[in-house]
Formats: sequence, C-alpha cells, structure tokens
Amino acid sequence: MKLLHIDSSITGENSASRAISAAIVSALTTADPAIEVTRRDLAADALPHLTLDVLGAPEGTPELAEFLASDVIVIGAGMYNFTIPSQLKAWLDRVLIAGQTFRYTETGPVGLVGDKKVIVALARGGLYSEGNPSAAVEHAEKYLRAVLGFIGIDNPTFVVAEGLASGPEAREKAVAQALADAGTMAIPA
Ligand SMILES: Cc1cc2nc3c(=O)[nH]c(=O)nc-3n(C[C@H](O)[C@H](O)[C@H](O)COP(=O)(O)O)c2cc1C
Repeated sequence: MKLLHIDSSITGENSASRAISAAIVSALTTADPAIEVTRRDLAADALPHLTLDVLGAPEGTPELAEFLASDVIVIGAGMYNFTIPSQLKAWLDRVLIAGQTFRYTETGPVGLVGDKKVIVALARGGLYSEGNPSAAVEHAEKYLRAVLGFIGIDNPTFVVAEGLASGPEAREKAVAQALADAGTMAIPA
C-alpha cells in the first residue's frame, strides 16, 4: 500500500496541520509498517502556478503520476484567507486533469479515481464548523470536498482543529483533540 503525505502550511514547526497530518501518518504506519510513504512538502518545494505548458504536457506531471500511484493521501492544510494555501492549489491544478482524473460525458463530469482514500488535517484560526456564524465563509473544507468529489473521492475524512486564534488555551485544547483523533486513525473503509 502506498501513502502520499502532503503538507502545505508555511508555518514550519509551529504548524498545527503539520503536527496533525504527521500524527495521522504515524498512526497508519504503526498499524501497518508495510505502508510505503512518499513525502511532498509543498511549502519547502513549492510548485509554480499552473501554465499552459504544464497543463498540455502529453506525458503528464510527476505530481499527477505520484497521486495516481497512491492508495492513501494524507493532506495537511491551514486555512489561509478563508480557503486552502495557494501551494496546495498549485498541486491540485496538476491533479485535476481531464482524461486522467475526471472526464466529461454527455450526462456531465465523471470522476475517475474513486478507489483512493483521502484524509485531510485542517487547521483554522476561527470557528467555521456548522452552527457558527462564519460557517458560510468556510471555503477550505468545502472546496476540498468539492474538488475531491469531482475526481471521484466522495468521502474524504477530515480531522479539523479550529478556533486556534482564540488564545493559547483554546489552541492547545483544539490541537490536543485533533491529535487524539489522528492517533486513532485507521484507513477509512
Ligand atoms: C496567511 C494566513 C492567513 C490566514 N487566514 C485565515 C482565515 O482566513 N481564517 C482563519 O480562520 N484563520 C486564518 N489564518 C489562521 C490559520 O488558519 C491558523 O493559524 C492555522 O493554524 C494555520 O495552519 P498551520 O498552523 O498548519 O499553519 C491565517 C493564517 C495565515 C498565516
């Protein structure tokens, strides 16, 4: 089994999403030491914005090949300006490729990569989960669910730590809960 571990937070050692994604990968590889992990750090090795050359490359991109070869993808992301980091968007621009991960049919678009499992570690400064006044402007989780669904991954798992900007105590509590959830993570059925 192949696992692709992606991080996109720019905050290095202080990153909550990196700590949570690492805890998820640790739980999965402890349960199954045979899992082969590939690491992609989109902050350390940022991909340029998409260009027509990259989009039209007949051989595809290494990022797409790496994604297609993976069974499980663990993605760490912080919410930046209400959505995902642009580093992660640049990666998604190389993964959502017509004819490879989705195709258009007479009855609409069809996702082509349904058998992959995706787990997202998402950190947010504010409170955006259902019931909060800001829920309507949550465009990180919603966007990821939309693009993953578009390529056929209907049920991504999210481990969310939110309210991290509400003070050290609130941050500690939210991150501890997310790390506890990450620590018991199994590959989703
Ligand atoms: C550039 C930047 C933009 C941010 N924008 C938002 C935002 O729109 N909403 C929010 O709730 N938090 C925002 N935050 C706070 C982050 O979501 C929060 O610090 C989170 O922990 C980031 O993930 P990380 O700890 O893995 O870096 C922002 C942080 C940064 C650095």
